[in-house]
Parts: sequence; C-alpha cells; structure tokens
Amino acid sequence: MLQTPLLRLSGAAPGPGPGAGLGRTGSRASLLILWVGIRLCAASLGRSPWAEHYGTKSRYEGLSGTSVPGTDWLAPANCTVLQVNALIRHGTRYPTRKNVPRMVEIHQLIREQGNPGNRLVQALVSWHMWYNERMDGNLHPLGISEMAKLAKRLSARFPALFAVQSYREKKLKFLTSSKHRCVNSTKSFIRGLESHLNLQDQEGGQWEVNDRLLRFFDHCEKFQNLVENNDTALHQVEIFKNGPEMERIMSNMAKKLGISPAAITTNMVEATFYLCTYEFILKGIVSPWCDLLDKEDVEVLEYLGDLKQYWKRSYGYKINGLSSYKLFQDLFQYMDQTIEESERNQSISHTAVLRFGHAETLLPVLTLMGYFKDDRPLLANNFEEQKNRKFRSGRISPFAANLVLVLYQCSGARSLGEKYKLQLFLNEKPLPFPHSGNLVADYGEVKESYQHLIESLRFSNVCDDHSCFQFIFFLFLLLLFVVYY
Ligand SMILES: *[C@@H]1O[C@H](CO)[C@@H](O)[C@H](O)[C@H]1NC(C)=O
Ligand SMILES: *[C@@H]1O[C@H](CO)[C@@H](O)[C@H](O)[C@H]1NC(C)=O
Ligand SMILES: *[C@@H]1O[C@H](CO)[C@@H](O)[C@H](O)[C@H]1NC(C)=O
Repeated sequence: MLQTPLLRLSGAAPGPGPGAGLGRTGSRASLLILWVGIRLCAASLGRSPWAEHYGTKSRYEGLSGTSVPGTDWLAPANCTVLQVNALIRHGTRYPTRKNVPRMVEIHQLIREQGNPGNRLVQALVSWHMWYNERMDGNLHPLGISEMAKLAKRLSARFPALFAVQSYREKKLKFLTSSKHRCVNSTKSFIRGLESHLNLQDQEGGQWEVNDRLLRFFDHCEKFQNLVENNDTALHQVEIFKNGPEMERIMSNMAKKLGISPAAITTNMVEATFYLCTYEFILKGIVSPWCDLLDKEDVEVLEYLGDLKQYWKRSYGYKINGLSSYKLFQDLFQYMDQTIEESERNQSISHTAVLRFGHAETLLPVLTLMGYFKDDRPLLANNFEEQKNRKFRSGRISPFAANLVLVLYQCSGARSLGEKYKLQLFLNEKPLPFPHSGNLVADYGEVKESYQHLIESLRFSNVCDDHSCFQFIFFLFLLLLFVVYY
C-alpha cells in the first residue's frame, strides 16, 4: 500500500478558484479540502503514475494492489518450523552514479532548448534538480524502514526461530554483499529485529560480508567473458533501443518540448522515466517528468528494462542462472545440516539465515530454479506478443524483494522423505514449486527435482572458462594415480 499522498505538481494543473467572495474561513477551508480531495483522486485514478511498470525500481509496498504482505503464511498441518533461509534485495535506494548525469543532461537540454511558451517546459525548467552523484545508490530512509518492517513481520510470523535466546546464541546468521546499500539494509533489518525483541546493542547482531556468495556475478569468469564483458551479448537490447517503439517515444517527447527529435538520446528517454519513477517512489509525487510520457511509452520502457534483465541475468544465456549455483547450493547446505542436527536430536545451529544482495543476486537464482520462464524468449521484435509475459522484473524483484524458504519438521510421517517439508515465498506470497505446482513439498522431493542440477554441479566449476584444461589436468591426475597404485 502506498500511504504517501499523491500530490500533483504538474504545471498543467489549473489552480483552485481564489474563493475571494466567501466570507467565512471555514467554508474556504472546506472548499480547499474538497479541491485537494479532487486533485488526489484525479492523480491516483485519472492519470496514475504507472507504478506497476517501474521494473526493478518498483516499490515493495505498492506490489499487487492493496493486499497486506504476509497474510498467507500458513504452516502445513502437524508441522513445526525448523529454519528459515532468506535471500533479500536491499531496500529502496537513491539513483546510482551512472544515472544521475543522464538526468542532469535531459534537464539541461530542456532548459536550453525547450519552447519557453509551453507550460510543461515551464514546469520542468522550474523543477529543482536535487539528485546528485554523491547519492551513489545509497539506501534511502524508505529502504531503512522497509527492512525494519520486513524483520518485524518475519519475526512475528516465526517467533520460535527469531526468539531472544536464538539471537543471543548467534543462531541468526546474517550474510551481506559488500555494497553499502546492502550492509545498511542488513543493519536496518537487525535494528528492526532488535526493536521487535526489545533488545538493544546485542552481541548477536553481527554480519559477514560475502561477495563470492552474494555478488557471484563478479566472480564468475565464464559469465564475465560470455555476457558482462561481451559487446554483442545484449544485441537484442541494442536493437530494441534503436527500434520503432523507442523512436516513437523520442518523437513524442520532442513534440511536447518543442525540441528537435535528433537532440534526444535513448539515455535521456530512460533518464526521464527514472525521474518520473524516483519522484514517485521516493516522494510520492507525480512530477511533470511523467507528463513527458504516455502509458504506452512507460510499457515500452518497462519492456526495455526487462529485456536487459532477461539477457543479462536470466534465461537469455544459460550461464546467467548457472552463475548463481554456489548460492543455490548454500541454501540447501544449510537445510541439509539442519535436518542432520534434527535427526540426531541436537539443537539447530542456525534457526534463520538471512542473505542481503541485489536484484542481480535474486534473478539468477530464480532462473536457476525455473521460475518466470515464458514459452518464447524476450526479443527486440516481440514487445506486443510479450505484453502478458511472466518475466516482469517489477513483480519479481522490486526494492526489498525477498525469497524465503521455510523448512518444517512434521509428525506422523511414514518416511524420512516425508518428515521434512518446504514452503517457498516470494515477496511474502506463496510461490508454487515448479516441479509440482504445489505450495508445500516434501524436502526430499524438492531435492530430487533439482537433482540434475546438484549432480552436474558437484564436480565441475561452471564458472571456469577453462573446462578443457581442467579435464586434461584431471586425466593427468588419474594417470598418476593409476601409475602409482
Ligand atoms: C495430523 O495429526 C493427526 C493426529 O496425529 C492426524 O489424525 C492427522 O491425520 C494429521 N494430519 C495430517 C494432514 O497429516
Ligand atoms: C550507509 O553506509 C555508508 C557507509 O557504510 C554510510 O556512510 C551511510 O551513511 C549509510 N547510509 C545510511 C542511510 O544509513
Ligand atoms: C559474445 O556473445 C555472442 C552472442 O551470444 C557469442 O556468440 C560470442 O561467442 C560471445 N563472445 C565471447 C568472447 O564469448
């Protein structure tokens, strides 16, 4: 739910009547309230800021309409919860260093070349440019509160796992990417948890930085060579950027501003979209930047973002999903260990493992697990056909997105395979298992369904770009072994 009121600051809005003829301030005030009410309705209904199309810059609490997050955590019958494994994207942040100069650029262009008689141009010229490079993708205060609230909801949902004693005994494990927005998200989560548990400055609130696990994309050589540093890997994105859909946005923008279309670049179009997005998510304002775009334009720009994520982080290339295999294994290793301890009647070492990373951390894992795969690939030329696609990064990975795996121990099971059960939640909504479509699965059954992955990952490092060399080395070792024994 978005609680921030929507204020419309567009220069195109007509002002309220001066109300000079009204004698009493009371009726003036009520007129004003009425006017504000009408403006709010107009802003939120008539010309919504298209918050469902913001891609990875979507706000968590605006997800799926008005439903309250966390209403669907139903434990399976006769089961008690053993462990929670979570993968959490950092909360809402300021724009990154890369995007701010582009925002400045389009603002500058409008100030220099925009038609000064145009009301929209006037509104944009007088708009105050408050974004700067020092913001550098830092966590926004909203992000701090998103993390604290998530901590409170999770610990309220699983009080046995997030108990004071577990916290004191360091049974809650925190792992984070080294980026300040992730470390700050971890701190905010811990503070939210401490305040929920009525604890202050406890020893339990320590975290480990682990980039190999949470920024695996920086450490996967094959991904770096094949995708990250490969100029042709995002070919489809480049074609779409130069295609008819983007061209139409540029010429519409140019017309609205009285500027030559040749002066507007795709980077500037994206920057305009980000300005509309950030003003809305950070301040709750429908800014005049949104007036430069139409709903159709925003859908095109959402598609451009999804296309990038698809080719760089998801099904576009096999290595994108595979590059996350260590993190994927990490989830299962913790659960295996927990089951072992439970079978030996030992106390559980970690009741919750909370990992803080990026959209780029979450998307490859969900891809490896087989989620949100469309029948046809996302391509530069099928924007229309993909309008109802599953792969919508705004729903999958908004700010503060989270994948939570809940492990249960159940009584009355006939076999070990049935004794432990698993539930998945994405953004606090149940996520059906890809192999069965069910919301609960036996732990053994889930592992079985990923057996092909676990097997093929066991002996090989999928990220090595020298698999041939390694194979020869392995043969050499084998030869030595044979010769000496
Ligand atoms: C839960 O346990 C009760 C009593 O042991 C049993 O009657 C019931 O069938 C069990 N329910 C499930 C879903 O296993
Ligand atoms: C986040 O972390 C950085 C570096 O650790 C710090 O300078 C900054 O003030 C923090 N920001 C917030 C919002 O906590
Ligand atoms: C770069 O990507 C293209 C398209 O997938 C591929 O054909 C090519 O082999 C890649 N280049 C390198 C050096 O991996």
